[in-house]
Amino acid sequence: MNREQISRIAHADHPIKAPLDDAAVRQLLARGLPRGDEHVLDLGCGSGEWLVRALAAHPDLHAEGVDTSADALAQARESARDRGVAERLVLHHQDAADFASARPFDLVVSVGAAHAFGGLLGTLAAARRHLAPGGRVLIGDGFWEHPPSPEAVEMLGDFSDLATTVDRVVAEGWTPVHGHVSTRRELDAYEWACWGSLASWALDRPAEPDGAHALATAATRRAEWLHVYRGAFGFVSLVLCRTPDLP
Ligand SMILES: C[S@@+](CC[C@H](N)C(=O)[O-])C[C@H]1O[C@@H](n2cnc3c(N)ncnc32)[C@H](O)[C@@H]1O
Repeated sequence: MNREQISRIAHADHPIKAPLDDAAVRQLLARGLPRGDEHVLDLGCGSGEWLVRALAAHPDLHAEGVDTSADALAQARESARDRGVAERLVLHHQDAADFASARPFDLVVSVGAAHAFGGLLGTLAAARRHLAPGGRVLIGDGFWEHPPSPEAVEMLGDFSDLATTVDRVVAEGWTPVHGHVSTRRELDAYEWACWGSLASWALDRPAEPDGAHALATAATRRAEWLHVYRGAFGFVSLVLCRTPDLP
């Protein structure tokens, strides 16, 4: 069983692969898409859930997604077809850091994919290259709510605290016009959904050859979350505009 198969099963009940509930996703998209006829790009789109929700909410919207996972893109294609928005969605199977497009985008989304760009600021630099004048960026990344253990840093990467994270974004010339800090409920709901779905998949299929591996993975990941990073990890999503140069 490879990582992509595990991810597909783990996210069956939480198709947004980040700790955000549906209301938060809706509000972030609404702030990122003030008109409703924008061209949107998602760098690290996964199964395309952000784009498909945006397209379903706005009939004049067009979207493109980039991801290295063929399996996630196949899911995105399927879900766009199911929701009747496939003709307005273009998907690119490639490294998002190498993605180039002749057209600029009014909204660039990148949630939970900052590792593809070496961190949050690298993601913002990439987003800026694709941004139309006056466009917005919707970004989501981790931060440390409390000081992490060395094991948590090793596992998740080296984040800053929330204030420092936002200060760094602002220092790079961005102004937050909306933000969402994932609640304890959202953070916990995401982890329970992932590791609960994976465990449940295995338990429901006693004859499945991959069942033992899936169950062991669910147990390991649940224990890592509870023992290593639950007390330290936070997640922030920001809608950003470029800060104008002051005279
Ligand atoms: C945590 S998931 C987030 C998916 C989606 N943004 C969401 O919020 O539902 C991270 C995604 O980044 C993708 N990814 C990782 N490295 C990448 C890269 N270098 N280029 C493009 N996608 C990448 C993974 O395949 C995965 O789909």
